Amino acid sequence: MKILICGKGGSGKSTVSALLAREIAGRGTRVLVVDADESNFGIYRMLGFDQPKDFMESLGGKRALSERLMRFIRSERREALSIIPEEFQIKDIPPEVVVGDEMVKLVAIGKIHNFGEGCACPMGALAREFLEKLRTNGEYVIVDTDAGIEHFGRGVETGCDKIVAVIDPCYESVQLSEKIAEMGEKIGKDVFFIVNRIDEDSEDILDMIDRDRVIGVIPKRKDLFRASLTGGALPEIAIMGEIADRLIR
Ligand SMILES: Nc1ncnc2c1ncn2[C@@H]1O[C@H](COP(=O)(O)OP(=O)(O)OP(=O)(O)O)[C@@H](O)[C@H]1O
Ligand SMILES: [Mg+2]
Repeated sequence: MKILICGKGGSGKSTVSALLAREIAGRGTRVLVVDADESNFGIYRMLGFDQPKDFMESLGGKRALSERLMRFIRSERREALSIIPEEFQIKDIPPEVVVGDEMVKLVAIGKIHNFGEGCACPMGALAREFLEKLRTNGEYVIVDTDAGIEHFGRGVETGCDKIVAVIDPCYESVQLSEKIAEMGEKIGKDVFFIVNRIDEDSEDILDMIDRDRVIGVIPKRKDLFRASLTGGALPEIAIMGEIADRLIR
């Protein structure tokens, strides 16, 4: 089962990805978190891990992938570009690009590291192929994405089974949730909503979104905020139990 977490910038995608991974692992199922956000680095800290090396490095790095992509675009051939040659399992991912513990592992597809290094297209193409070719063996895969909907344009959702949009209390997030639901439906994927960072001033957001899709409401919490301020691992929060029940039933 592969679950993709998406939503507006800063809505809580990485927080929800990390909390959900810990919740599922706490039930005895191994989890791979795939960091498909090429800009933000933070999810390894939320999980209490060291920063992983980019998966892209195990394939020769960004320059090599960019050159392959450019050759493909310029060529007459129209068959699919294959970056990863075979179907693979979590155990086949090179260990030097994986961090984690017994139950939760993390792999980061690729990050922008330097000024002027070029766009993130190679990372998008790689993320799509990684998820399409990854064969699970009872494990859960949680994919933390970049802000907005560019990953839909890149087709990263193709290899995923379920889509979760994290909605924070602002109108931009409401609008984006409609777009995500529409695009998810078009590609035949179930789309769920998690409403995040809610307090008594923002509860009415629940009247502005498709409630049938809502699988949980996470309140605005001081402990989550403090963890992000100090860079520490996230605390466990009880509501994730109910959310996981609804998501993976
Ligand atoms: N329920 C919550 N209560 C309080 N703070 C929260 C909650 N959820 C997330 N936050 C805080 O909101 C900020 C953004 O969260 P997070 O980094 O998870 O969002 P994101 O969607 O992954 O952001 P980005 O688009 O930058 O990747 C962080 O400081 C995080 O600690
Ligand atoms: Mg994030």
